[in-house]
Amino acid sequence: MTRIVQISDTHLSPGKRHFAANWSPLRQWILAQEPDLIVHTGDVTVDGADVDADFAYCAGLLASLGVPVHAVPGNHDVGEPQHAYQPTSSDRVARWRRHFGGDYWSIDIEGWRLIGLDSMLFGADIPEEREQLAWLDATLRDADGRRIAWFMHKPLFLENPDEGDTGYWTVKPAPRADILERVRRHGIAVIATGHLHKMHDRILDGCRYLWAPSSGFVVGERLQEPMPGYKKLGAVVYELAGDTLTVRMDELPELTRYWIDDVVHEVYPPRGGA
Ligand SMILES: [Fe+2]
Ligand SMILES: [Fe+2]
Repeated sequence: MTRIVQISDTHLSPGKRHFAANWSPLRQWILAQEPDLIVHTGDVTVDGADVDADFAYCAGLLASLGVPVHAVPGNHDVGEPQHAYQPTSSDRVARWRRHFGGDYWSIDIEGWRLIGLDSMLFGADIPEEREQLAWLDATLRDADGRRIAWFMHKPLFLENPDEGDTGYWTVKPAPRADILERVRRHGIAVIATGHLHKMHDRILDGCRYLWAPSSGFVVGERLQEPMPGYKKLGAVVYELAGDTLTVRMDELPELTRYWIDDVVHEVYPPRGGA
């Protein structure tokens, strides 16, 4: 049996310490789970897309866990596709790779192939977007009968795969359609995401869509319109044995329930968001 802990949206920074108090209790909880592996689904930094010091600091925190950590970037780490102010760019992706290693990766464990994807490349229209998709297609083709679970930052959709543009919250409809075609063709079993700072667990068309909670803060109604899921802080535990998988989503009452709305003007001037 292999135990994996997924954490997400830690939003840590040596300069912006608004959510820093949640690291120590999260760290203690992670170590108590005795995981074999940790997956971080992005927004590692508060808003480090241009801040080397935030990356160095967060890489140090993750390394201090003493357990292998595989991470994928969030919008606050590498920017978002074609954003007017902070677009995903080759420079930003390169900064991620310098500090955290690959922004997409694949690991075979038990009867599973775990694939980390850089969802901030979907629709970014930079060379790295095409390179990731070519790599993904090859990685899916040679999965050799393994069940496949994806980890990435942004969810593909909120309520249904055919919905329109949700603005900030999901992958845009055009790149989403390309990715969903691969989900169906390869029978992806699990897609685990972050970004929404909400807990949610749903099976649709044979794929289990897991929204991992943040361990940093939740988002109030002024900044996040009504959508499925629960505004709780926590993390997710996966146990893999052969090709079976059990999932436990834990609310962690030892974390302080910060609301981004209270400090958004200090944390993300002038753009807002989760
Ligand atoms: Fe995010
Ligand atoms: Fe976030």
